[in-house]
Amino acid sequence: MPKYGSNVRFDTQVIKADTPENISRAAHLAAQLLRQGQVVGMPTETVYGLAANAFDDSAVEKIFLAKGRPQDNPLIVHISDKDMLEELTAECGDVRRQLIDSFWPGPLTVIFPKSGRVSLKVTAGLDTVAVRMPVHPVALAMISEAGFPLAAPSANLSGLPSTTCAQHVQNDLSGKIPLIVDGGECSVGLESTVVAVKENTITVLRPGGVTAEMLKKAVPWAEIKIAEAVFKPLKEGESAPSPGMKHKHYSPKAKVILCTGKPEKIVDFANGYAGKNAVFIGSREVCAGVTIDRLEYEASPEDEARHIFSYLRRADELGYAFVVIAESENAGIGMAINNRLLRAAGFEVVEL
Ligand code: TXA
Ligand code: MG
Repeated sequence: MPKYGSNVRFDTQVIKADTPENISRAAHLAAQLLRQGQVVGMPTETVYGLAANAFDDSAVEKIFLAKGRPQDNPLIVHISDKDMLEELTAECGDVRRQLIDSFWPGPLTVIFPKSGRVSLKVTAGLDTVAVRMPVHPVALAMISEAGFPLAAPSANLSGLPSTTCAQHVQNDLSGKIPLIVDGGECSVGLESTVVAVKENTITVLRPGGVTAEMLKKAVPWAEIKIAEAVFKPLKEGESAPSPGMKHKHYSPKAKVILCTGKPEKIVDFANGYAGKNAVFIGSREVCAGVTIDRLEYEASPEDEARHIFSYLRRADELGYAFVVIAESENAGIGMAINNRLLRAAGFEVVEL
């Protein structure tokens, strides 16, 4: 095993985990590497993660190095069993307990006051820790086989769209990590919902697969707030409740032109990009009227969420200069889609 450093190259292995036998073989191999302080590509239901032992500072440092991630952006800690939470925090409370009971395992990350065991490397100096229990069977097998919680950000080079299949992880991180476990395509396609809890208020710091509507239904006595930075860029000098809000995110090389308006207007606007090396990403319905190149998904927002990152990546692979795309309806998972698209487009929206 080569010693880690910026010049060290791995011969990255990709192993399939698609049958019960494959899953236990993959989890075993991954756990061996994780115990040695290595970093491993891990499938989850949201996006792929870049995992390392959350209690090993030098392993956690390797995550930041491999991704080129800013040091001030904390990591989410993944557990396979609710009991593992006890090592990470001493404080839960009724609202968090209700959230955990309703949504774990699943795409919800909850912020807790951190215990002494959690290193400041993971939390980027914060006294809180973000925890989630994924539902993907391969992620659960990897964590439980390792026997310790795994710190894992999305497995993409910092700034690029997140990765939703093993091939994307390979494209970004091949040579930088020893192993990618291939657990197929991610079923949600966007990162988890991140929430902070204060007394009876739940603040959504990043919208995701668990929607604001679902949070309200699960904890009817709580007030649900959406952090301002979900839809607006932070002002100069403004401090972020979640450090990830202030970094450039999800951007392909192509310029993302985000628009909003009636479908007919969107079609006309997209067709105005004829001859400009542009691709339109949209539902099959809207795409029917579009004459420039298209990447289509079915009409449901869930299907859009599943495709959005892979289509932004595809646009780059195909060498387009522009991606034209419309905002989603701002409800349900549409809020998460719009949050990612706004960042990919540098918060510029063309109103039609
Ligand atoms: O679905 C997901 O959450 C994926 C998979 C791999 O689990 N992970 C992921 O990690 O999206 P990452 O690092 O790309 O995003 C983590 C977000 C960042 O915006 C970060 O700032 C925020 O969570 N975060 C982490 N710890 C935090 C804390 N203690 N307080 C506030 N925000 C925190
Ligand atoms: Mg990320």
